[in-house]
Amino acid sequence: MTWSKESLIDAAREAAAKAYAPYSQFHVGAALGFADGSVVTGANVENASYGLTLCAETVAVGKALSEEWRGRLEAVAVIGGKAGALGAGDPVTPCGRCRQVLNEVAALGESDPQVWCVGETEVLELRLSDLLPRSFGPSSLA
Ligand code: THU
Repeated sequence: MTWSKESLIDAAREAAAKAYAPYSQFHVGAALGFADGSVVTGANVENASYGLTLCAETVAVGKALSEEWRGRLEAVAVIGGKAGALGAGDPVTPCGRCRQVLNEVAALGESDPQVWCVGETEVLELRLSDLLPRSFGPSSLA
């Protein structure tokens, strides 16, 4: 079983439906597609102490690494929007912290994953290196 651009976006959409976002009502889903065909998803998890909120991409990376996914990260799909209007408006791009968190997984598998950001009229197709040029990663500590 492998994933496609469409199925990865669908997985992100399904993940977003499980978001815990009672404060912002902004639901985000992320899906990580690995070279071995596996997919790991995440949704945002908010907190009454607002600043402790976890973004969908960070949750997905936490799930992946804590489950020992160390393979090559090929693509990431992200979708977000207000409850009931998922994917409406401009594409949601990963926040700065999530770009750095994603960079760690990418570095482990030595990839520069595609990042598909879903919007109402377009799917923005980027590379992680476009979002996070000259990144700091594991090799920076060598
Ligand atoms: N959010 C994400 O899950 N990912 C991002 O890349 C940007 C923002 C979430 C955090 C918060 O729960 C909500 O969107 C509104 O900021």
